[in-house]
Amino acid sequence: MPETLTITDNRTGRQYEVPVHDGTIKATDLRQIKVTADEFGMMTYDPAFMNTAACRSRITFIDGDKGILEYRGYPIEQLAEQSDFLETAYLILFGELPTRPQYEAWTKDVMLHTMLHTNLSKLMEGFRHDAHPMGMFISTVGALSTFYPDAKTIFSQESRRLQTLRLIAKVPSIAAYAFRHSIGRPFNLPDNDLSYAGNFLNMLFRMTEPKFTPDPVLERALEVLFILHADHEQNCSTSTMRAIGSSHADPYSSLAGAAAALYGPLHGGANEAVLRMLTEIGSMSNIPGFIKRVKAGEGRLMGFGHRVYKSYDPRAKIIKRMADLVFEVTGKNPLLEMALELERIALEDDYFVSRKLYPNVDFYSGLIYQAMGFPVDMFPVLFAIPRTAGWIAQWEEMLNDPDQKIVRPRQIYIGARTRNYVPKEKRK
Ligand code: CMC
Repeated sequence: MPETLTITDNRTGRQYEVPVHDGTIKATDLRQIKVTADEFGMMTYDPAFMNTAACRSRITFIDGDKGILEYRGYPIEQLAEQSDFLETAYLILFGELPTRPQYEAWTKDVMLHTMLHTNLSKLMEGFRHDAHPMGMFISTVGALSTFYPDAKTIFSQESRRLQTLRLIAKVPSIAAYAFRHSIGRPFNLPDNDLSYAGNFLNMLFRMTEPKFTPDPVLERALEVLFILHADHEQNCSTSTMRAIGSSHADPYSSLAGAAAALYGPLHGGANEAVLRMLTEIGSMSNIPGFIKRVKAGEGRLMGFGHRVYKSYDPRAKIIKRMADLVFEVTGKNPLLEMALELERIALEDDYFVSRKLYPNVDFYSGLIYQAMGFPVDMFPVLFAIPRTAGWIAQWEEMLNDPDQKIVRPRQIYIGARTRNYVPKEKRK
C-alpha cells in the first residue's frame, strides 16, 4: 500500500491524502490545501532550508548522528587511507572508482590542463599586493568563463567533460598564483611529472632549484586533506553552485559563486577563523575566560558545531590523527596544545554537550596548513581546490535531473501593501 500522510485542515474540516516517498512529502502537494478556490494554497516556511530536501542525489551520504560520511558509498576512512585525490575526484564525478587504464587516462588528461593562459596571470598580477587570496581565486575562476566561452554549451556532455578537466586542473594553479602574488614571488609553471598535490606544492614553494621534489609526507597529507574536502552534499556553497547553475550559467561563473559562498567564516572560512581565534586567545591561561565568553553568547568557538553532524565529524578524526605525521616533518604547531585543551574542555562542558557541538573538519586542518607553511588567508583557498570536484559533480547531477528547474524560492510578504506615491516636497 502506498504511504500517505493524512492532513486535516481545521479551517475547512477537509482532509487531504499526501503521498510520502523516501520519508518526504512534496511541498507542491500542499498547494491543494486552500480555504477558497482562488487562493494560492499552502506553502512551507523554511528559512535556511533547515528541513527541506532540494534534490535527490547519488553522490555523498552523511549520517550526522552516527558521524558517517561516504562518497558514492565508499567510507571516507577507506578513501583517506587508500585513495588519492584524483581517483576520489573521478569517483565523485563519474560514480565509480576508475579501472587502472581509466585512472591513468584521467590523471594524464587533468595534468595536461594545469597551465594558465598568460593573460590570466597578467590579470592576477593586477591585484593589490595584500589582496586576500580567496578574493583573487573567486575573481580568476569567474574570469575563466571569458577565456572559455565554449563552456556555455552546458548541455553538451563533451563540453562539460572538457570544462571539468580544465577546472580540476587549473584551480591549484590559480591558488598557487594567488599565493605567489601575495608573497611577491614569480609564478611557477606546473610540473606535470609530479602528482596533483606534488605539482601544487611545486607551484607554491619552488625557488631556484630546476626540479622540485615534494616531501612525501606533506604531499600525502595534502592528498588526504583534499580527499576529505572533496564533497559534502548540500552545504551552502554546493547549494549556491546548484542555484546559479540552475539558471544555465556556465560552470566557471557558477563555480565562482560557489567559492564566494565558501569564503564566509561560517563555512570554508572557518579554518582561517580557527587560527585567528587561537592566536587571539594567545595562551592556555586565557582559555577558561574565552570559553566563558562563548557560553555567554559573545562569539563562537570556531571549528565547532555543524548543521548536519551531531557527533564527531569523521573528517576531523582523520585530520587529528594525521597532524602528528605532519608535525614530525614540520615541527609541532605551537597552537596545537591550545586546540587540544579547548577540545577537552568543550567535550566535557554541558553547554557544548547539550547542543551536540563537536570539532568539525576546520578545527584541526588550519594547524596542519600553517605548519606546512601556508599563511592563514590561504586556508579557504585550500578548501576550494578539492571542493571543485564536488561542486562540478553536483552541478552535473542537477543539470541531468528532470525534477530540477531554475531555483526560485517563495516568500511570505510582510511589507506594506498598495499605497500612493507622495512627491518629495509633500513628504513629512
Ligand atoms: N560555538 C558556540 N556555540 C555554538 C557554536 C559554536 N561554534 N555553534 C553552534 N552554537 C550554538 C548556537 O549558539 C545555538 O545555541 P542556542 O540554541 O542556545 O541558540 C546552537 O548551538 C545551535 O546553533 P545554530 O547556529 O542554530 O546551528 P547551525 O546549524 O545554524 O550552525 C554552524 C552550524 C556550523 C554554522 C555553527 O555551528 C557555527 O557557527 N560553527 C562555527 C563555524 C564553523 O566552524 N563552521 C564550519 C562548519 S564545517 C565546514 C563547512 O561545512 O564549511
